[in-house]
Amino acid sequence: MAKKEPSYFVPGYHLEFSNHLVDKLLDAIQRAEVYHEPQKCTNFGFHVASPSALKLSAEVKMFILQTERLILRDFQPGHFDAFFATTNDPEYQQFYAEEEMTRPFWQKIFTHILEGTTETPRTSYQLAICLSDGTLIGTCGVRTEDALNQQASFGCAIGRPFWGHGYATEACRALFEFAFTQLSIHRIYADTKAKNGRARALAEQLGMQLEGILRETQFFRGVWWDTAVYSILKNEWNTRKQDADKRR
Ligand SMILES: CC(C)(COP(=O)(O)OP(=O)(O)OC[C@H]1O[C@@H](n2cnc3c(N)ncnc32)[C@H](O)[C@@H]1OP(=O)(O)O)[C@@H](O)C(=O)NCCC(=O)NCCS
Repeated sequence: MAKKEPSYFVPGYHLEFSNHLVDKLLDAIQRAEVYHEPQKCTNFGFHVASPSALKLSAEVKMFILQTERLILRDFQPGHFDAFFATTNDPEYQQFYAEEEMTRPFWQKIFTHILEGTTETPRTSYQLAICLSDGTLIGTCGVRTEDALNQQASFGCAIGRPFWGHGYATEACRALFEFAFTQLSIHRIYADTKAKNGRARALAEQLGMQLEGILRETQFFRGVWWDTAVYSILKNEWNTRKQDADKRR
């Protein structure tokens, strides 16, 4: 189908859209009515919207970031089943305690995530990661845990069928760029089970440094688990960005 409207590349910028507009935008993208110009995308910028979407952004109700292949958006109440479904895999679940894998457990987390979308001032951006056709594949988020010291925690999880495509890296880069440029965050940190190789590879791919291993911090599934702690500072992020720009 012919592409009708050029899209705008907005480096380091985010827009907020109403729920209705996001659905319209997803629909337009699906029908290829909104230009995608990957050559204009960088891993650190956002490629956003049609002119009509930009005009309507004044409605400002929903948060959205767009990357080359993904849309990161606020969760809506109707997303719970799709969200819960992403956790339903033994490989995904292996680093979580059994009680952390139940529907009530995730329901509680999901309610907390929804509450975060209406908080003022907003401190938590735990976003749904969607493919450009709207399929919900996982979540990533930054949470300002200590505003005074500009410290944010970070986490990411993707459904098993979508591993190995670089989606987590792509989503988290956009999220980090947003956090460091729009939220005045000085340090983003994450912890994961030391044995969670994929989560550690993701942290390293994002330029996070290993701060240390905390020994035997949790006991579940019959064994003690070590925790690996990673972080990245704003100046480190900016240096990586400049290096990436030079290479381009
Ligand atoms: C942690 C988790 C999000 C990592 O997912 P992932 O798919 O491995 O991570 P990425 O999206 O960065 O993909 C990296 C892989 O995609 C490949 N890839 C393909 N296309 C790529 C691209 N365009 N860009 C980057 N990587 C790409 C990489 O080579 C790498 O492959 P490999 O795993 O064979 O080495 C996922 O394992 C997960 O959700 N686990 C369950 C929940 C969990 O434990 N979360 C962490 C809690 S702390």
